[in-house]
Amino acid sequence: MPLLEVENLEVRYRTQAGEAKAVDGVSFVIEPGMCLGLVGESGCGKSTVAKAILGILPPAGHIAGGAIRYAGRDLGGMTPRELRAMRWRDIALVPQSAMNALDPVYTVESQLAEAIAAHQAMPAARRRGRIAELFELVGLEPDRARDYPHQFSGGMRQRAMIAMAMVLDPGLIVADEPTTGLDVLVQDQILRRIRDLHDRLGKAMLLITHDMAVVAENSDRIVVMYAGRVMEYGGEAVFRTPYHPYTLGLCNAFPDLAYRARALISIPGTPPNLVAPPEGCRFQARCPFATARCGTPPPLIEVAPGHVVACHHVDQAERFRERAADPETWREPAR
Ligand SMILES: Nc1ncnc2c1ncn2[C@@H]1O[C@H](COP(=O)(O)OP(=O)(O)OP(=O)(O)O)[C@@H](O)[C@H]1O
Ligand code: SF4
Ligand SMILES: [Mg+2]
Repeated sequence: MPLLEVENLEVRYRTQAGEAKAVDGVSFVIEPGMCLGLVGESGCGKSTVAKAILGILPPAGHIAGGAIRYAGRDLGGMTPRELRAMRWRDIALVPQSAMNALDPVYTVESQLAEAIAAHQAMPAARRRGRIAELFELVGLEPDRARDYPHQFSGGMRQRAMIAMAMVLDPGLIVADEPTTGLDVLVQDQILRRIRDLHDRLGKAMLLITHDMAVVAENSDRIVVMYAGRVMEYGGEAVFRTPYHPYTLGLCNAFPDLAYRARALISIPGTPPNLVAPPEGCRFQARCPFATARCGTPPPLIEVAPGHVVACHHVDQAERFRERAADPETWREPAR
């Protein structure tokens, strides 16, 4: 049985301009022990997917359709209390704003202790032992547990947040841009630590990032999202032999991938307004290969076993790959 199934998930936000369809029919599966990378530009709905899974959408947001199942249990049918119990114990989050998630007035140890105590009765001595163990697990000196957050560097705080997520030994860790705001060297250390937890403890992960190189290096399966929808979903073929023009554009933006262009090329233009998204392919206004047919929504087409692509022109992927490597192709928005 899959550990997590997200099926046709729809999430909307109430805004002054109307309802924004932030997540619109997203499906994927995480098997036990698997790391699934969710990648896409800012605003495509990645954190919204994470928050829906954890049941922590803000008041303006609601799940408008689809289902989320953890170990076969439908989260939609759970009471708020059941959902709360499930957070941390079964699914834990390393949040996007982890840098500010620690309370400055308490020591790191007391915050971890509180997180443990909230879910599990445990004598204080054992709790301290568990915290020391967690510190070691994420590569922090256990002696530093009694420090206050401001005595930690950004990278150390991030490690503390990962330790926090591991407090109850959850089956699934959702890491939302776990290295944002850290310098490249520390980013690398944190990602290595996360990968190590994944490999050594067999933790399942949902790794969220805008960086294709990060998912390529760390994920077993990859979901590429754009404007609330899945554009491409599959294994490493997603970055080795991408089919979707948007994936090609993302790969171009991160050149240390097996598939790459010579120069860094960015995709011109901006994502569509999610209150009134275009009828057809959501990428059409920025796609260099758009045709009249793209005015109708493309279905998800299976191009190889377990590799699906939402594009009308998957049969031309080889030509797209060649042309995507040429900066001229991306010079101007298509229209
Ligand atoms: N509380 C909210 N109210 C209204 N709209 C929201 C709210 N939170 C997010 N949105 C909108 O939903 C869309 C998806 O946002 P989300 O934060 O999920 O994107 P993201 O992919 O995580 O972006 P980033 O990479 O910048 O973190 C965006 O268009 C955003 O403006
Ligand atoms: S469906 Fe059309 S607009 Fe969308 S990605 Fe494919 S070619 Fe581009
Ligand atoms: Mg986000």
